[in-house]
Amino acid sequence: MRKQIGTFDAFDETMEKMRGEGILLIAGVPPNPMTIGWGTLGYVWSKPVFVILVRPNRYTFELIENVKDFTINVLPKGFNQETAICGTESGRDIDKVAKCNFDMKHGECSNAFYISQSVIHYECRIIHKNKVDPGTLEPSIIDTYYEQRDFHTIYYGEILGVFKT
Ligand SMILES: Cc1cc2nc3c(=O)[nH]c(=O)nc-3n(C[C@H](O)[C@H](O)[C@H](O)COP(=O)(O)O)c2cc1C
Repeated sequence: MRKQIGTFDAFDETMEKMRGEGILLIAGVPPNPMTIGWGTLGYVWSKPVFVILVRPNRYTFELIENVKDFTINVLPKGFNQETAICGTESGRDIDKVAKCNFDMKHGECSNAFYISQSVIHYECRIIHKNKVDPGTLEPSIIDTYYEQRDFHTIYYGEILGVFKT
């Protein structure tokens, strides 16, 4: 049984997972989970937001550019292999939902899909996006993370609901 919880009640669990094997972003159709390791939970414009970064070469980038909503899925222990698949394989080449045996459900309060096996999921609506601006970025970060000059787009998703099993 999933129940709605406070917006930041699962903060520690979410951050720990994000710093570890990663958490899964899903945006658009077909639902295509992509592992992310970078993100921010907080307030912007007095709204609770989940901020995520997506590089332009991801299939997920094509999908998210055509929609407003996304989900962030935190899987329980024992799903490291699935998280690794979603972080190394592209939805352009394989059906990651089928390969990982994920059960997809339509969002409770958004137009994005979530994974029913997740222990926590966030439903978010994009209220702003911007591309990383190399002109204002610390040069050492460019050297370390953007050798290909494939600068992320940063999406600010207003958190519409957080759900826990
Ligand atoms: C632990 C981990 C964290 C990752 N974090 C991000 C991220 O924050 N943003 C991003 O664009 N790619 C990230 N990636 C890479 C994508 O998950 C990977 O390129 C994926 O295969 C893209 O899938 P897609 O082409 O189906 O969208 C991460 C990969 C791993 C393994």
